[in-house]
Amino acid sequence: MSEGAFGFPSRLPGLLGIRYPILQGGMSWASSSAALPLAVARAGGLGVIAAGPMRTEALIAAIREVKAGTEAPFAVNVPLYNKRSAEFLDIVEAERVPVLICSQGGPKAHLPRFRAYGAKWLHVVASEAHAIKAEAAGVDGLIVVGGDAGGHPAPDEVSAMVLVRAVARKVAIPVIAAGGIADGAGIAAVFALGAEGAQLGTRFLMTREATVHEAYKQRVLEAGIADTTLVGRGGLPVRQIRNRFSAEVDAAERAGQPKEALDALYASRSLKLAAFDGDVDWGKVEAGQSAGLIGEILPAAEVMKRLVAEAEATRRRLLGLPEQAAA
Ligand SMILES: Cc1cc2nc3c(=O)[nH]c(=O)nc-3n(C[C@H](O)[C@H](O)[C@H](O)COP(=O)(O)O)c2cc1C
Repeated sequence: MSEGAFGFPSRLPGLLGIRYPILQGGMSWASSSAALPLAVARAGGLGVIAAGPMRTEALIAAIREVKAGTEAPFAVNVPLYNKRSAEFLDIVEAERVPVLICSQGGPKAHLPRFRAYGAKWLHVVASEAHAIKAEAAGVDGLIVVGGDAGGHPAPDEVSAMVLVRAVARKVAIPVIAAGGIADGAGIAAVFALGAEGAQLGTRFLMTREATVHEAYKQRVLEAGIADTTLVGRGGLPVRQIRNRFSAEVDAAERAGQPKEALDALYASRSLKLAAFDGDVDWGKVEAGQSAGLIGEILPAAEVMKRLVAEAEATRRRLLGLPEQAAA
């Protein structure tokens, strides 16, 4: 097929200045450096630096490294509940980062100063109500995360298939679907639901550039589609690969332990333990159900190339068009 053909209509390339409406999900640790976002930006997608666990100097350095490596736009992901979110926002503004992706908090108070230098604001939502509220606040687009996603999925566990459709029916701004998308067929599927872009987390976790421990990548690679579970139901749950830690949480829940004990248990282990220290038995090995659809670790540029080609091949199949010869 011809290099880069992508026949799905989307306002995102025009809005954000990217070539393809494909986003690499901001992933704490995995994209908390320049490597993965830079590779994705160079390949025509939106690369996203996850500020969450970063020291401020490291965030500044990563932003500058991406800028030095490409003319293409990129984003920084700031969870607004993070106690350092104000510092992160100041850095994003000072560095004139072109796209800001925020979650877990209201955008309204922050929007004007980013608008002032022309930044675009994409807001991460996991319910219809938050989607409507964020649109009313004036954000440029919504990243709609379903219950199948890795990291923090929709707490009420509504799948992307249902939530993306519900939100697309209700809002006028571009919707980007997240959760359970691993290949071009998944991208084509969310366009059918009314999305204008796809955000993939777990797929980009399985790249050479993702900065997590090799043991983490291997554990995700070996996982099947039913090997993840939600840990921390009733609060801000994470979807992770089942391991000794998740089994301990399950047992505590079944035993009817009080909420304080469950909260303490949940907080006793971290993503860092798995992603940085490589303890995949006791750390939170965050990944989505789509882990079971991914069979290899590739360079991010190769992932981007395949996603674009697969999406286009799917579109042609659905339209009954002949396959295109390889370029
Ligand atoms: C290891 C990991 C860490 C994540 N960290 C963040 C984060 O810091 N901020 C955020 O908004 N989303 C985070 N996410 C969610 C992703 O950005 C994305 O929405 C999600 O992975 C999409 O679902 P998928 O994994 O099924 O593709 C994380 C996901 C994973 C797998």
